[in-house]
Amino acid sequence: MKTLLIVYHTGGVKTARMAEAVEKGARSEPGIRVVMKRCDDAGPEDLLAADGLILGTPENFGYMSGMMKDFLERVFYPCEGKVNGRPWALFVGAGQDGSGAVASVERIVTGLRLEKKSEPVIGLKELTPEILKQCEELGAAFATGLALGVF
Ligand SMILES: Cc1cc2nc3c(=O)[nH]c(=O)nc-3n(C[C@H](O)[C@H](O)[C@H](O)COP(=O)(O)O)c2cc1C
Repeated sequence: MKTLLIVYHTGGVKTARMAEAVEKGARSEPGIRVVMKRCDDAGPEDLLAADGLILGTPENFGYMSGMMKDFLERVFYPCEGKVNGRPWALFVGAGQDGSGAVASVERIVTGLRLEKKSEPVIGLKELTPEILKQCEELGAAFATGLALGVF
């Protein structure tokens, strides 16, 4: 059975609620094992064991959160060259923008040679049911893609 790894950070609640929605969607696909961890609990062994990766971060100071950067710094060299071509996706909890978090994560994950499978879900301002629905759909579509082997 394939494994989908969801790794996220939250400084408050927003990105955590988005992560829960992504996880709910992913778990609607029975053919996939879903592992969800916060950045500080996740490491290279988790990424190496995963067939696909969904990352979630707040946007802080026009960048990904410090904890997400720490996670990516810890996994980069141990995983470089060992996860090429595996699918990944992103969700961002932001205030007004979100583009800096997207660009910063994409730049690093491109270096890991993962393959982006969908456009990021960006939650701006207040968290709405529509954003949570988009998160749930992201998790479900990603998990289905993994299960069917179309990624
Ligand atoms: C230190 C700090 C820096 C922030 N910088 C940005 C920013 O550059 N752009 C933005 O859109 N929102 C920014 N925000 C707002 C957060 O992205 C927003 O509140 C987000 O929902 C936080 O998610 P969380 O509740 O999961 O931590 C910042 C918040 C904090 C605490």
